[in-house]
Parts: sequence; C-alpha cells; structure tokens
Amino acid sequence: MKNLAIGMFDSGVGGLTVLKEVKELLPYENIVYLGDTARVPYGNRSPRTIVRYALESALFLLTKGIKILVIACNTSSALALNILSKKMPVPVIGVIEPGAKEAARVTRKKKVGVIGTKATIKSNAYEYSIKKFDPVVEVISKPCPLFVPIVEEGLEAEDVAYTMAEKYLKEIKISGVDTLVMGCTHYPVLEGVIRDVMGPQTHIINTGKETAKEVKSCLQRRGQLRTKGSGSARYFVTDSPDTFKEIGSRFLKEELSRIRYIKSLDYKDFILS
Ligand code: DGL
Repeated sequence: MKNLAIGMFDSGVGGLTVLKEVKELLPYENIVYLGDTARVPYGNRSPRTIVRYALESALFLLTKGIKILVIACNTSSALALNILSKKMPVPVIGVIEPGAKEAARVTRKKKVGVIGTKATIKSNAYEYSIKKFDPVVEVISKPCPLFVPIVEEGLEAEDVAYTMAEKYLKEIKISGVDTLVMGCTHYPVLEGVIRDVMGPQTHIINTGKETAKEVKSCLQRRGQLRTKGSGSARYFVTDSPDTFKEIGSRFLKEELSRIRYIKSLDYKDFILS
C-alpha cells in the first residue's frame, strides 16, 4: 500500500504549484498527476459541470493505483470535495480546508481576504471553512479571473499583472485584512506581485503548502508514508503534452518529462484503452 502513488488532479497546469509543494515535503513519494488541459478553465463553469469533471478525473486516477487523492484545484475542491470524499475508496484531500485552517490560525485582526476563480468565490467554500475553524473571523472575498491567463501567458512580472492586482485587491486591502488566502492554483506564481500590492505586514497563505502538510499527516496516520527510495512523478493530460510541458516547466521551475496524452476521461473509453 505504501508504494502506491499519490494521485493529484487539476483542470490543467495550475495544480503543479500544489505538486511542487507535495514533492518538496514528500520527496520519496510517487505521484500521478492528471491535468484536464482540454477543458481548462474550470473557474467559470457551473457547479454541475465541475462536479462531473472531478468525478471523471478521480475515476481515472483510481485506475492508476493510488493510496490518496489530492484535489489540486481550488474550484474542484470547492464544489466536489464532499461528493468525492463519499464516493472514493481512498482518502481525499482538497486544497480549501488546509488553507482555511492556516488563515484562521494566523489572523490576529480576525479579518481574512480570499481570492480565487469566480466559481470558487461564488461557492463560499473558503468562508464556510474559515468560519468552521473560527466563527469570529470576517471574510472578504474577490474573484480574480484574469490572474489565470496572465500567469499562463508568462506575464507575471509585467505591468499588466500589477495593474490587475491593484484593481482586484483594492477593496480587500481597504478592508484592513491581515491575512490573504491565494485560493487558486495559479496565484503562487504571482505571489511577489500580490505581496507588493498588499504590503509586507499581510500574511499570504499558499494553500498548496498547507495541503502538502495535510497529505503528509494523513499518510503518516495511516502508516502509508514512504520514507526512503526515490520519488517520481508522471503526468497525464487531455490536450497537447508539449504545451503542458512548456507552461508546466515554468510553473515547476524544472523540465517536465513522462507526460502522456489521454484522449478522453470518459470511464468507458480509458478503461478499454
Ligand atoms: N485550477 C483552478 C483553481 O485552482 C484555476 C484554473 C481554472 O479555472 O481551471 O481554481
């Protein structure tokens, strides 16, 4: 069981920011990552579609032999964690709760900002989760949909990134939060810009980092943590492996290899192929 892989999925390349943290904290683990690059972005889609895509991705990863499933996508975690936790035969970890827990822990002013995709913010999943850890905390949320294409186009150090960050973060900044949750996989790539705009006093929460800690403690509890050997990562994508390799290598800051294209996430198709 220990030697089975950690399964992770995201709508595309974004989840690699979560994978990066998992790899760093758990260097001996084997990881199977699925990026549904043919259908990205999920962030503007309806809850029903997001849940369907999440179920398809989870089923695909189950066929690869996994000991734990990480929903490395905030949008999918916001809408599909409950259903996947009920349906999957392995533990399921989303990125929302670990980030929410850390935000509730570090805020002194009891005021937390949350940024994410439209679907994540509309779901109120972060607010719900933060209040579960500390009901007194006030949450101010803002969707930042243009951050995703800015990062995917490699524009994170350009003026456009600063202009949009000033615009999106204005209300949150004025509200006087002392903590900000980066509630989308792509935002850690913009962390420098976000820090510059929010100022040095603000705690910036990287949900991927917190999720990696949660994965570690879950595996430890279950006696399934690999503590030796060499770790590995392989990738499955539903669109061009070349594009994934190019953008993903930028995200991970290392050259990606072992990327395989899969034509369909329809269970009937991949189980027969
Ligand atoms: N991975 C998504 C998230 O974390 C961002 C990209 C998308 O909209 O699919 O919410």
